[in-house]
Amino acid sequence: MIVAIDGPSGAGKSTVSKEVARSLGFSCLDTGAMYRSVAWQALELGVSLDDAAALGDIARRYDIAFESVPGEPSPRAVSIGGVDVTRAIRTARIDRSVSKVAAVPAVREALVDQQRRIGAGGDYVVEGRDIGTVVFPNAEVKVFLTASNEERARRRVAQNAERGVGSTDYDEVLADIIRRDERDSSRASSPLAAADDAVRIDSTCYSAEEVVDMICDLARKAAR
Ligand code: DC
Repeated sequence: MIVAIDGPSGAGKSTVSKEVARSLGFSCLDTGAMYRSVAWQALELGVSLDDAAALGDIARRYDIAFESVPGEPSPRAVSIGGVDVTRAIRTARIDRSVSKVAAVPAVREALVDQQRRIGAGGDYVVEGRDIGTVVFPNAEVKVFLTASNEERARRRVAQNAERGVGSTDYDEVLADIIRRDERDSSRASSPLAAADDAVRIDSTCYSAEEVVDMICDLARKAAR
C-alpha cells in the first residue's frame, strides 16, 4: 500500500510520515531528501543551478541510496554517489538551492522513476509535493497536509535545532519557507498541489499524534 503525504515545507510531513509508518509497519520514503541530494551534488561539482541539462545528468547518473535499519521506518542515512549526505542536505545552503533543482523537468523525471521503483517494493509512506498527483496517482491513501506559515516556520526552527543543522533564525526560516512555497507552487513541472482525491488536513491546530491517528484511520479503512 502507498500512503501519499504531500504539502508545503514545515507542515509536519516528516514527523507525521515517520509515526504513521511506525504505527502501520510501513517504510518511509522522503522524496525531498532525493532532490536535496541532487542539489548537494550539483554544488559539490560546481554545476550552475541554472544549467538544467547538467542537473538532469546528475539526477540520472548519481545513485541515491537510503540505508535502512531493520524495524525502523526511516533510513539511518542517505548517500549520493556513495557519499553520506545525511546531514549535509539539511543545511541552509541546500534549503536555499533545492527548489531551483526541483523545478528542472529532467531531474524530476529521473527521481520520479526511482521513487516508483522503490515504492513498488513494498508498503510505503511517501512524502513530497507531487506524490498523490504524479508519482503515485493510484495511491490508496492521499493526504495534503498544511499549516499556517508561522506555525511551519516555528516547527522547522525546532527541527533544525534538534538536528543541530540548518538555520534556527525564525525570520530567516519564515522567509525561506514563503520563498520556497512560491517557487514550488508556481513551477511549470509538477507544482506543489493537492490531488483532487486527497484528504486535506490543516495541522495548525492539531498535535502530531492527532494527525497521525487521522491518517492511520484512513489507511486502515482503505485496507478493508
Ligand atoms: O520536503 P523538503 O523540504 O525536504 O523538500 C526539498 C525541496 O524539494 C523543496 O523545495 C520541494 C522539493 N520537492 C519536490 O519538488 N517534490 C517532491 N516530491 C519533494 C520535494
